[in-house]
Amino acid sequence: MTVEKVTPQSIALAAKLLNEGRLVAFPTETVYGLGADAANDLAVASIFETKGRPQFNPLIAHIADISWVERFAVMSPAAKKLAEKFWPGPLTMVMKKTPDSPISHLVSAGLDTMGVRFPVHPDAQKMLAAFGRPVAAPSANISGTVSPTTAEHVAQGLGDKIPLILDGGACAVGVESTILDVSGDDTPALLRAGGVGVEEIESVIGKPLRRPESDPKAPRSPGQLLSHYAPRLPVRLNAIKPAEGEAFLAFGPAENATLNLSPSGDVKEAAAHLFAYMRRLDDPKYTGIAVMPVPTYGLGLAINDRLKRAAYPH
Ligand code: TXA
Ligand code: MG
Repeated sequence: MTVEKVTPQSIALAAKLLNEGRLVAFPTETVYGLGADAANDLAVASIFETKGRPQFNPLIAHIADISWVERFAVMSPAAKKLAEKFWPGPLTMVMKKTPDSPISHLVSAGLDTMGVRFPVHPDAQKMLAAFGRPVAAPSANISGTVSPTTAEHVAQGLGDKIPLILDGGACAVGVESTILDVSGDDTPALLRAGGVGVEEIESVIGKPLRRPESDPKAPRSPGQLLSHYAPRLPVRLNAIKPAEGEAFLAFGPAENATLNLSPSGDVKEAAAHLFAYMRRLDDPKYTGIAVMPVPTYGLGLAINDRLKRAAYPH
C-alpha cells in the first residue's frame, strides 16, 4: 500500500489502478471513499470483500460532470433543480437507471435505481476526470467501524488491503452525504440526513421532503429498501438439481446449470454475478429459480443474506 499526496503522477496511477479493476481510496468533502470502476462487476465485488460487509448495500456512483449522468440514469425535473443548486457537493440523488445502463447490478444491489453523487473535493474531481467514468465508492473503512476523514484513518483500517490511498488532507464536511430519492414524480424523499441541510433542500424544492422513516407503511431505513428487490419467480435455496421447469443457478462444478455464479467455486466471482444472473433467470419461461448452496465464508455471507431475502415468500 502507498499513501500518496495528490500529484499528476498519483492521479494517473489511481486512474490506471481503477482501469485494472483495483481499488483506490480517495478524499471527498464528506469522508474518504473506497473507489472501484462502477461498471466492473468484479472490482465492485472487491469493495464488499475488502470492507468485510456482510450485506450488499447499494453503493453510490461518483461522477465528475453532470453530463455523465445521462449515460446510465434518468434525471427527473426535481433532480435537475437540486443538481443546479447543490452539485458538486455532499448530496447523493437516487435515480432510475436507464435500461441499458453499463453500471454493475452490484452497485445498485439489484434495484432499478442508483445513487449518484458529484463531489466538490478538487482531488476527487481530478481522479474521476482522469478515470473518465463513474466510480462506485462507499466510505473507506472496515464495515461497522467509523467512517474515515483522513488518509491516516483509511490506512489504519484498510492499509494492508488496497494498493493506493490518495491523501487530500482532512475532509471538510466529515459526515456522509445527504441522500434523496428523486427517482419518482412525487416529492423527493429523505433517505439519509447528511452534508446538505434538509432546510436548504426544502427551500429549493419549495415544500417539505417526504420522510419515509416516519411513514409506518414505508421501509424504515435505506438498507431495508433492499427487501423491495426480489425476483418475481419463486426462489428455492440449497438446490442440488433443478426440478422440471426451473432455472438452475449453480455454484461450483455442476451439471445442467442454466447459469453458473462461479464454475470454479470462487465466492468473489459469484458475488460479482449474483444480481445480474438473478435478473436474467427471472423469466416467465421458467417456473422458479433453484439455487445451489453457496458457502458462507468471505462474500458468501452477503450472498446468502441476499438469497434468503430473494427466497422470502412475497
Ligand atoms: O458521503 C458519502 O456519501 C460517502 C462518500 C464516499 O461519497 N459515501 C457513502 O457511501 O456514505 P455508503 O456506501 O456508506 O452509503 C451509501 C448508502 C447506502 O447504504 C444506501 O443507504 C444508499 O446509499 N443508497 C445507494 N443507492 C441506493 C438506492 N438505489 N436506493 C436506496 N438507497 C441507496
Ligand atoms: Mg459507510
